[in-house]
Amino acid sequence: MCILGIESSCDETAAAVVDKEMRILSSVIASQVDVHRQYGGVVPELASRMHSEAITPVVEKAVHQAGIAVTDLQGVAATRGPGLVGALLVGFNFAKAFAWARELPLAGVNHLEAHIHSLFLTDCAPDFPFIALVVSGGHTNIYHVSAENRFELMGQTRDDAAGEAFDKVAKMLGLGYPGGPAIEEMANTQNINDIRFPRSLLEKGSFDFSFSGLKSAVARHILENPVKDDADKARVASAFQAAVIDVLCEKLIGAAKFRNCRQIGISGGVSANQTFVAALTGRTAKKNIRVFAPPLSLCGDNAAMVAARGAVMIRDGQTCGLDHDVFSRVLT
Ligand code: KG4
Ligand code: ZN
Repeated sequence: MCILGIESSCDETAAAVVDKEMRILSSVIASQVDVHRQYGGVVPELASRMHSEAITPVVEKAVHQAGIAVTDLQGVAATRGPGLVGALLVGFNFAKAFAWARELPLAGVNHLEAHIHSLFLTDCAPDFPFIALVVSGGHTNIYHVSAENRFELMGQTRDDAAGEAFDKVAKMLGLGYPGGPAIEEMANTQNINDIRFPRSLLEKGSFDFSFSGLKSAVARHILENPVKDDADKARVASAFQAAVIDVLCEKLIGAAKFRNCRQIGISGGVSANQTFVAALTGRTAKKNIRVFAPPLSLCGDNAAMVAARGAVMIRDGQTCGLDHDVFSRVLT
């Protein structure tokens, strides 16, 4: 079974083909980051327009690179939400038309579940059950995943997502957009740890997150101690990153203990942060907990993860019709 995946929830237009063994036959990503960088963040209207321009060539390229004919496809999967509505509509409506014209089943994929499925696209995937973290520019969610189709939300951010905090702190430090890679790179240039920002762990036993206090603490620190050079920026970047990583590790290990799980899988843009991966791996090793992370190419938004999630949905008959719409946020 070959599934075509389509992703357009934010600022990447992506298409991929994945086969039934979860092998990636192709994965094409047209990033809009260079355009949005000029504005310091994603401009939704521009994102939709650029998705419209890119979607046809990106899908054609994905099918071509997979070395298959369109008639070899057995299903179409596209991100239905959460994300920017105008952006989602481009990919999802394209997928609807594509599936209808070829009489193929269509899966409307939850972007967060797709991120979790990026963990199944490698030779070394976690077994069920495991604790999953989806940590990106829009979300910081912890799930207990007991089967391919069973995601129980254990906690989420009450304000900013971790990636959003990285982006905002990078802006404060004049490091540009997207902030995550810039902060990590800056933080790696030094090893003086003379600043300590607060870690918000919320109530005991809660697996929720809050990063807005940390963001304000960084803003206050910069106001009181203006950054004069790259060394100052690096000290702030490193202290901020350490605080985020500490909280993520603490909550993940707590969730694993609470559910008696020996495996943690992280996914989403922030899981590309190698300092985080190393810290989590180090802290869990003594506790006999294994950490799984996607390869760098699958940490950020991509369509292979959408195809992987869609393959399971189509297999289980969880398909949708032409009357289904996109959604901007998950209703709880
Ligand atoms: O998953 P993703 O590509 O898109 C969303 O679904 O949001 O995640 C993007 C987020 C951005 O906030 C970006 O700054 C962050 O992931 N990010 C990182 C790193 N690379 C990307 N954050 C920390 N360290 C990184 N190396
Ligand atoms: Zn994402």
